[in-house]
Amino acid sequence: MRQVEILEDGDAVGLRLVERIIAAAADAIATRGRFTIALTGGTTPEKSYRRLALPENAGRLDWTRSLVFVGDERDVPMDDPRSNWGNARRQLLDLVPLPPENGFPIVGTPGDPQGAARRHEEALRRAFPGDPIPRFDLFLLGMGDDGHCASLFPGYPSLDIIDRLVVASPPGVLPPPVDRITSTFPLINAAREVMFIVTGEKKAATLVDVLETDPPFWRRPAAGVNPALGTLTWLLDEPAASLLSTATRQH
Ligand code: 6PG
Repeated sequence: MRQVEILEDGDAVGLRLVERIIAAAADAIATRGRFTIALTGGTTPEKSYRRLALPENAGRLDWTRSLVFVGDERDVPMDDPRSNWGNARRQLLDLVPLPPENGFPIVGTPGDPQGAARRHEEALRRAFPGDPIPRFDLFLLGMGDDGHCASLFPGYPSLDIIDRLVVASPPGVLPPPVDRITSTFPLINAAREVMFIVTGEKKAATLVDVLETDPPFWRRPAAGVNPALGTLTWLLDEPAASLLSTATRQH
């Protein structure tokens, strides 16, 4: 099931994302006793993370029952400004009462992205015992101008992986030019809900391609995201959605 939700601007998308995270957490905790979320890197969610960290929002989420992961990582130390987990900590996780054992960074020792991927896959298996493939309650993704998501880049071997949850990948063409560690399609597509957050007119043409032309995932990796038993939501702002057809805007 695909939903497209279009809001006026990046600020409105940021606000909406905060509400969706809080609602997904309440629902998961009420149903299954815990909330599992994979955060996305990139710049788009930064405002949301900061907003979620504000006491009036952070206080509406039971952090003690939340397990927080990141969908992909750059192979840099955590205090490097390019680290997705480092950014999520600075903008959100260090400011809320998340028990340290409920945070699951992809821990790199730069130069060994394969080892980091293997260790993170083991951490995922331990955190989701009994699930053949871990099922996140909410998996957040951004989309690059080239249609990549997480660190699944057009034309790269990581797109074809079916027997791993997390793999190492060489850098894509968009910055930063560092090795990556990324969730694979099987992990992303097992989620109960996957949510893309895409803003800005720079991404408008790629969005048309992904949402309206059914491109192969090796050309537009975002088109490979299709949760088998979950929902897929595209949270967009008007500039990003500006080239979409009326039919797509209504779904
Ligand atoms: C990363 C991301 C990546 C990102 C997109 C969009 O680690 O870089 O997870 O997939 O979400 O490149 O990035 P922006 O939000 O900065 O446009």
